[in-house]
Amino acid sequence: MSKTFYIETFGCQMNAHDSEKVVGTLEQQGYAQVQDEAEAGLILYNTCSIRDKAEQKVFHRLNEYKKMQGEGKRFAVIGCVAQQEGEKIFDRAPYVSIVAGSASYRNLPGMLERLERGDQRITGLDDKKTTETFETPFVARTNQHRGYITIIEGCDKFCAYCVVPYTRGNERSRSAASVMEEARRMADSGYTEIQLLGQNVNSYRDPSGAKSFAELLHAVGTIPGIRRVRFTTSHPRDFTRDIVEVIDATPTLCDHVHLPVQSGSTRILAAMAREYTREWYLERIAWMKAAKRDISMTSDIIVGFPGETDEDLEDTATLLDAVGYDAIFAFKYSPRPNTPSVSMADSLSDEVKAARLQILLDRQREIQRINYQRHIGQVVEVMVEGHNRQRNQVVGRTSQNKTLNFTTAQPIMPALGSYQMVRITQAFPNSLLGEAQAAL
Ligand code: SAH
Ligand code: SF4
Ligand code: F3S
Repeated sequence: MSKTFYIETFGCQMNAHDSEKVVGTLEQQGYAQVQDEAEAGLILYNTCSIRDKAEQKVFHRLNEYKKMQGEGKRFAVIGCVAQQEGEKIFDRAPYVSIVAGSASYRNLPGMLERLERGDQRITGLDDKKTTETFETPFVARTNQHRGYITIIEGCDKFCAYCVVPYTRGNERSRSAASVMEEARRMADSGYTEIQLLGQNVNSYRDPSGAKSFAELLHAVGTIPGIRRVRFTTSHPRDFTRDIVEVIDATPTLCDHVHLPVQSGSTRILAAMAREYTREWYLERIAWMKAAKRDISMTSDIIVGFPGETDEDLEDTATLLDAVGYDAIFAFKYSPRPNTPSVSMADSLSDEVKAARLQILLDRQREIQRINYQRHIGQVVEVMVEGHNRQRNQVVGRTSQNKTLNFTTAQPIMPALGSYQMVRITQAFPNSLLGEAQAAL
């Protein structure tokens, strides 16, 4: 087998960052990444299982790999579908050599050695109860200015619809000292934005007891060279007031909180085992609205959970109004293997789910159309993320995580990763438009 690899990644930011660590680990073991699977000796497939018959899609894709097995290539299925389906993957796709869940990645070097010896059916599936996290100095980050750090892995919340506790194992945090060390190293090598990650990032509990989540946010935000700190995803149950206070007190913490509500109906929230009510959630929103900074709020919503009525849906719609989110990610409920809700009665047809989803998306679009207007006339700082040469615009991102496209009077466009003050001149439901301000 040639020591070249190709990796394809699906799913959330945690998976994207896992791939950066897997790539770093492979490179450390002497493998070189290629961008074309035809050139690769090892093909890795980092999978997501969150909804929409994900496992079927994976098996479908593996069928395509079958054609390539004669070329001496080896295959690894990693990530959430790997953990969920386990050795069944070898039964359905015998040409796969490695099946490993994310809780086993720290054992990857050993798995690679076995692969090189010619072993088949190498698994990393037994570590779901581990207290270890995957910490490695070898991280091949894809962006040179903005980077992820996973501070907590796994999930112990067991919401009725969700596969994550089964695919990512139990909740475990990295020590604050090791997070700080990695963040400092990133700052030293030129990163200015750090995004702290966790399935429930604010459930973070420093194993050494040194820092609360809010204290860690502050500590990362005061590292010299760091200009922006983001964190995602926050869970309402662990969302404490000191998080709002630390955002108010630390200018480098971005003024954006992603706090998924899932439903505005207390009855459905109980069926989902979210363990909070509509009122309890809205109290956390009220803390943010009372903050000195203009904190932008975003959410995830599930429509069509078993038993959801038109009244429940209306409760979600009125919650969208009450919060005034700047963005939502809304999904049709998807029954998932091993989860409690898969056997719940009253499941709704796809047509009903699709119609309900559209009702919420239309309502939200109107909210955003009005929300984004409030920025017209403001001068805000953006990080430059891209250049749209066709439109002669620069693509920037605000602290609130909004896209702000802008024009500049300078002949040369500002560099990627640089910061620029921009005056906002127009607003749309999903983005802003502006003009660069001359440097002072
Ligand atoms: N830990 C985060 C969410 C992680 S999963 C939280 O609890 O908020 C990301 C999103 O996928 C969830 O917020 C939810 O909206 C969606 N999701 C999870 N399971 C789903 C399912 N079975 N069907 C549809 N959407 C789902
Ligand atoms: Fe899934 Fe709930 Fe855990 Fe979020 S908190 S990852 S929705 S089980
Ligand atoms: Fe998907 Fe696993 Fe993330 S199921 S959303 S890749 S935690």
